[in-house]
Amino acid sequence: MVLEDACQAHGAIYKGKRAGSIGNAAAFSFYPGKNLGAYGEGGACSTNDPTLADRIELYRAHGEIKRYHHEVVGFNYRLDGIQGAILNVKLKHLDNWNEKRRNIASMYNEMLKGIGDIITPYEGDDRRGIYHIYAIRTKFRDALREFLTENEIQSGIHYPIPIHLQNAYKYLGYKKGDFPITEEQAETTLSLPIYAEMPESDVLRVVDTIKKFFNKGTK
Ligand SMILES: Cc1ncc(COP(=O)(O)O)c(C=O)c1O
Repeated sequence: MVLEDACQAHGAIYKGKRAGSIGNAAAFSFYPGKNLGAYGEGGACSTNDPTLADRIELYRAHGEIKRYHHEVVGFNYRLDGIQGAILNVKLKHLDNWNEKRRNIASMYNEMLKGIGDIITPYEGDDRRGIYHIYAIRTKFRDALREFLTENEIQSGIHYPIPIHLQNAYKYLGYKKGDFPITEEQAETTLSLPIYAEMPESDVLRVVDTIKKFFNKGTK
């Protein structure tokens, strides 16, 4: 059983298949900041397995198999009608918005080439990202982030604490050093501003500020 986490991947393509159609089932998030975002919390599952679909539907509404008959202990995961209506309108624009994000990502890739120790995102020929996040990597992440903030440019870290070091998973017994690649990613990734309507002049401003940071010298 393969379950896809497609929460940041609305419209992404891998080997000719859209995210959400690769595994047995997938989860999408419609959190407002996502490429397809509602005006509040929301999400959806996709599957073409009818048994699984029935099961998911059952859990979605407190395990209610028919009015007042509860088969299992489920959850209240019903999507508000208003969110469905908003998402229905926004869905028509998704491909276009994703294309715009891809253009911004290409601009960043081109302009950040060769600056400091920056590593830009890699995209293989058999896939098409939709850049919910545009994350670079640099050893000087924290200092660069501070410099961007001083210059009134917001950035993010997705994500600063790996799952194996979260208190919630302490019971699994992992410690720092157990997943060195994950930990290195958590210490070096930095998400730069990106959204479909981001003007080219803003992309240039972000890149210029990053250049300034590396030109003034890093320690
Ligand atoms: C990769 C990934 N999976 C799952 C989630 C959780 O989505 P939600 O906040 O809608 O539950 C997120 C949200 O940020 C995410 O980025």
